[in-house]
Amino acid sequence: MVKLNEDLKIWNKNASLYDKYLKQDQDIYQKLINEPSIFKLLGNLKGKKVLDAGCGTGVFSHRLKLKRAKAMGVDGAPNLIKLAEKNYPEIKFEIADLTKKLPFENSSFDMVVCKMVLPHLPTVEKTFTEFYRILNRKGILLISLPHPVLTFYFYLKNKWQEKKEFSWTGMEGYFKKVKIKASMGKDETFFPLIGWYRPLKFYLNKITAAGFLLEKIDEPELTREFKKKFPDYYKRKKEIPLTLNLKFLKL
Ligand SMILES: C[S@@+](CC[C@H](N)C(=O)[O-])C[C@H]1O[C@@H](n2cnc3c(N)ncnc32)[C@H](O)[C@@H]1O
Repeated sequence: MVKLNEDLKIWNKNASLYDKYLKQDQDIYQKLINEPSIFKLLGNLKGKKVLDAGCGTGVFSHRLKLKRAKAMGVDGAPNLIKLAEKNYPEIKFEIADLTKKLPFENSSFDMVVCKMVLPHLPTVEKTFTEFYRILNRKGILLISLPHPVLTFYFYLKNKWQEKKEFSWTGMEGYFKKVKIKASMGKDETFFPLIGWYRPLKFYLNKITAAGFLLEKIDEPELTREFKKKFPDYYKRKKEIPLTLNLKFLKL
């Protein structure tokens, strides 16, 4: 039985709210903008063994499978894994804490995708050395995370405006690594979260120190099609990078 840290306890407790949020299709940015960017970076997935690290309720593991990858998912919150197994019984899911040793042999995967997870991990050193260990040589590590510039943008807004419009609070400027308060969901699916803010150089230096080589980077932009479907969203967010997608290779 995995001992849940403070962050995982929150995810575990709110698993069904998160499931509901995703099923209401509220995560439009992920589906229409971020995931196409990730798939482009990953390239051909057919037959590739892919680990969805921090898979939540399994939505992205399923999308990997639809692209014909041999995908499986791990997450540290047992209630999320139960929901993932219920949602996608054809996919294998396991409970695993990404800050600890992972339950896989050396060189078990062609790709590891870790999407929107890193700011939820209190420490990341073991995470990256474990990703390196379980990947094949020339394997791909795809990291997708809320862009540190986006987090900083909300920090500045909250600093300068009276009306606080985003719940990521606790930052002390761009450079300082700090524990922050965040949130997930919307209206009846809303729940408060915690996270750890770190600047870009922190992540790049830790991942390359684990042995990875940075191959490509994307900062996906909202498209014209997106603008047509969601004009308000487009207007509010067109000028800022929302996510940062990094493709690394195991040498
Ligand atoms: C924002 S969700 C992202 C879920 C999914 N990757 C996606 O993009 O839809 C963050 C996920 O990280 C998981 N997580 C947080 N801390 C973790 C840890 N220490 N080990 C494994 N998973 C963790 C949470 O349980 C949650 O499912």
